[in-house]
Amino acid sequence: MRQPFVAGNWKMNGSRESAGRLLEDLVRNLSPGNREVAVCPPFVYLADAMRVLKGSEIALGAQNVSEEESGAFTGEVSATMLQDFDCAYVIVGHSERRALYGETDEVVARKFMAAVRTGLRPILCVGETLEQREEGITDKIIGEQLDAILGVAGVHAFKEAVVAYEPVWAIGTGQTASPDQAQAVHAMIRSRVAAADDTIAAGLRIVYGGSVKATNASELFAMEDIDGGLIGGASLDAESFLSICQSAE
Ligand code: 13P
Repeated sequence: MRQPFVAGNWKMNGSRESAGRLLEDLVRNLSPGNREVAVCPPFVYLADAMRVLKGSEIALGAQNVSEEESGAFTGEVSATMLQDFDCAYVIVGHSERRALYGETDEVVARKFMAAVRTGLRPILCVGETLEQREEGITDKIIGEQLDAILGVAGVHAFKEAVVAYEPVWAIGTGQTASPDQAQAVHAMIRSRVAAADDTIAAGLRIVYGGSVKATNASELFAMEDIDGGLIGGASLDAESFLSICQSAE
């Protein structure tokens, strides 16, 4: 019932040339299938990406968005600007933004709202650090991250959203959560949303991120509540990313 979703988060990698090559390889070689695929390049490559992806099955997303609509906010990019470049998705609350740029749950909630207001679909990232997992407070931390958004946006805003569970200890470390570890958190996220609305929870795509590779994607995506992936490093290589997309059907 839920269509699987696989998105590549390129982070701050590549050049205009390598981005163009990667996009063309993806468009040329993605085989049709029952899953949705998106890529999230850096802002400055969105215009090129829009042109290459036009008419393809690959959707475009951005990695960040301003919480403001317009005005004197030097260096910021608004949700309507992203729409100008055919973005359908935007990542909000990535752990790198939370940890390195001080984005609090409150800021993430405002960004989530800015996206929803404009008709962009937020990919909301949540996840615990290694210390928090070892302390046994994973569910509490993720519950708080979710509640911060549910409280401000309301459960109806989740109709258009994707949630990405990204354990911080698994991002870029090569240490993937086991399918059972990830499934347990995904089920918890779904039940938390179900407490507000069963139907929305049942339709909500919850994807896993953190060292997903071509070799471990199938076993993760086979779990009941894992509806695809948010892929970092492996999304920079066309062959690996295409193979991961293939695993999500
Ligand atoms: P890696 O796949 O490189 O671990 O990154 C995951 C991630 O942060 C995706 O948003």
